[in-house]
Amino acid sequence: MELYELVLDFFYKNKGKYIPLKEIASNLNISESEIIKTLQKLEEQEYKIDFAEDLGYRLEETPNLLLPYEIKRDLKTDFIGKKIYYFSEVDSTNDVAKELAENGAENGTLVIAQTQRRGKGRDGKKWISPLGGVWMSIILRPTIKPEKAPQLTLVTGVAVAETLKKQTGLNVKIKWPNDILIDDKKVCGILTEAHAKYNTLEYVIVGIGIDVNMDMELFPQELRRGATSIKEELEMEVYYVELVQRFLERFEELYLEFNADQFPEILRKWRKYSKTIGSYVEVHKRLGKIVRGEAVGINKQGALILELDDGTLRKVFSGECIHLN
Ligand code: BTN
Repeated sequence: MELYELVLDFFYKNKGKYIPLKEIASNLNISESEIIKTLQKLEEQEYKIDFAEDLGYRLEETPNLLLPYEIKRDLKTDFIGKKIYYFSEVDSTNDVAKELAENGAENGTLVIAQTQRRGKGRDGKKWISPLGGVWMSIILRPTIKPEKAPQLTLVTGVAVAETLKKQTGLNVKIKWPNDILIDDKKVCGILTEAHAKYNTLEYVIVGIGIDVNMDMELFPQELRRGATSIKEELEMEVYYVELVQRFLERFEELYLEFNADQFPEILRKWRKYSKTIGSYVEVHKRLGKIVRGEAVGINKQGALILELDDGTLRKVFSGECIHLN
């Protein structure tokens, strides 16, 4: 454990109390000057520490940042988020995660950034990632066939939807395959990238972008109509750490279910949140192909089933889905 973690642990154990410098130093077996240096460092990281003559120091406020120490402190998972890499700025957390995975990073490793210079969306689109969002990627090493990797997107979608619903009470929906909406506006996107060698899955990177505390003025005009943030909907700032902790815990549970061949169960949950099933939709596929019809279901593989205007059924495995009603 690092010094600042020991000091923070001590403060959290003595929550609300002023503690004399002497007492902190003797309890942690560290010199008083080291403690003072550590307190200064914590203040640089936006922790608010009050000092009262005769009483000592007290932790007043924790910064609203996704600091690894804060995420791990109260995280009830076995392997998701046990190792966390935190950056103030990266090109893309998915790319950082990929590099870490190539170098042997363990299952469940989490990469988080405050901002991304080149956030990646689906189909080669750009993902705008300013301050205020949660931009994170999870490295997974599932023992499944490569063709099952896209199902992890649906698993992740359920974990995000359930967490957002529970933490905010908002009207959370999923648009097939992987957009999380509040009412009709997108609040989260998921980008799953699988890496296989000789038909064996080496690792999967699940990238999740949630618009949490973003002021929508930071969004380009053309995206503003279809997007929202949790802050915008709740009209107040959200504490990131708790949201991410609860998501990681739910994600781990669902991921274990997925690995235990319970994908049909997860799909049942997915259907509960689906905005797409029952809607008349247009799916834009590669090479400009468009399929139009009523979305009547999702099959065991996670493909969308459309009933076309002539009554025939068509399975769609991927594409950009637009709701027409
Ligand atoms: C989409 O197009 O809906 C998917 C968006 C995924 C964005 C996230 S943000 C964290 C991770 N890093 C990236 O570069 N992209 C994903």
